[in-house]
Amino acid sequence: MLIKNLIKTILFSTVIVLSTTYSNKTTAQEGKTIFNTYCAACHKMDKDLTGPALMGVEERWGNDREKLVAWVKNSANLIAAGDKHATEIFNKWNKLPMTPFESILKDAEINAVLDYIKDWKPAVVTTNTPGEKQATKISNFILFLSILSGVLVILSISLFFKMCKLKKMSNETLND
Ligand code: HEC
Repeated sequence: MLIKNLIKTILFSTVIVLSTTYSNKTTAQEGKTIFNTYCAACHKMDKDLTGPALMGVEERWGNDREKLVAWVKNSANLIAAGDKHATEIFNKWNKLPMTPFESILKDAEINAVLDYIKDWKPAVVTTNTPGEKQATKISNFILFLSILSGVLVILSISLFFKMCKLKKMSNETLND
């Protein structure tokens, strides 16, 4: 009885964990696809292009998701309403208007792409520090030494056996 309940609980939680991971993955994937389709022509995450680099944009907008969605829908509306940040960014980019997406993307899709932007992180570049390089060199050397000693051990064992054989043969000839 207890085991049955335990199995039930485990199965149930596995299903929940799997489904949440799966649904999170699909929105992240969706956000990426939308970004590549509709935004990447003018935006990069870490470099200014036709439009500004978008990494950390949500913080620059004071984490105001509602306003960001409004911007992507139609930036001209926000600028006309006299929004401070919207006007600033518009002026900074030589009053180059951004494409309005209100008739192209649904709110959920705009949120998905904003989530993707928010979660985006630059690829970690693994440059070995000098200490690590030294360590790799040393461990490579140790590896080389162990291979060498392994070969030497095998060689001496086979030599030992050959010597035994030779001795035996010479004893036999002597005894003959
Ligand atoms: C035709 C080019 C173009 C496209 C396509 C475009 N943008 Fe923009 N975007 C701009 C420009 C230019 C600015 C700078 C503000 C301005 O001049 O209006 C901007 C600004 C922004 C800002 C504010 C940046 C900041 O630093 O505050 C956000 C957020 C943004 N875009 C998101 C998007 C998203 C999301 C998409 C895709 C759904 C997109 N943009 C597609 C040109 C574009």
